[in-house]
Amino acid sequence: MATNLPPEIERVLVPEAQLAAAVESLAAGLTRDYADRHPLMIGALTGAVVLLADLVRRLEFPLTVEFVKVRSYGGSAESSGELAWDLEPDAATLAGRHVVIVEDIADTGVTLRELRAQLLAKGAASVAVAVLLDKPERRKVDVQLEYVGLTIPDEFVVGYGLDFDQRFRNLPYVGVLRRAVYETS
Ligand code: XMP
Ligand code: MG
Repeated sequence: MATNLPPEIERVLVPEAQLAAAVESLAAGLTRDYADRHPLMIGALTGAVVLLADLVRRLEFPLTVEFVKVRSYGGSAESSGELAWDLEPDAATLAGRHVVIVEDIADTGVTLRELRAQLLAKGAASVAVAVLLDKPERRKVDVQLEYVGLTIPDEFVVGYGLDFDQRFRNLPYVGVLRRAVYETS
């Protein structure tokens, strides 16, 4: 697999088989906790689409799928980490539901912390977070991650939904982007 890496990719960090195992472990945790709760699985566009598609096919209990799209401003220690909504769930969709946010990666933590708070404020009964990747070295704010697929070092990664400038989401593995790609231009 991955004998021909695109020139922008330095190396494969997480090969396909390891991604599948990480998805399986997320599915096992969710099955343990949500099999009787008909959760509302909310994918954070766009990065989470590949994970969400793989994950829900490992869940053998009733669930609902929705999407949100947000942009986070700031992320500095002083910033409140405000969210701008591009696609926002309405209160009727969330009312009384047990929500699982599905996200590609936790970086500073700002997006997930704020997303959780806003979904609770809009009426969700509970909110948990499932991320494929966690980069704890980059954390700026405290955020609870109930389900983590893999912990990775502080490198900029693409593939399996993750992009650089909207590219590379289609790679079937997670790869490290060469520094020269994002440090120039
Ligand atoms: P926070 O708020 O946790 O934001 O800083 C998480 C969002 O930042 C993006 N992100 C990445 N995207 N490779 C990517 O392709 C990375 O290594 C990376 N680190 C953070 C991503 O959009 C995520 O939703
Ligand atoms: Mg994202």
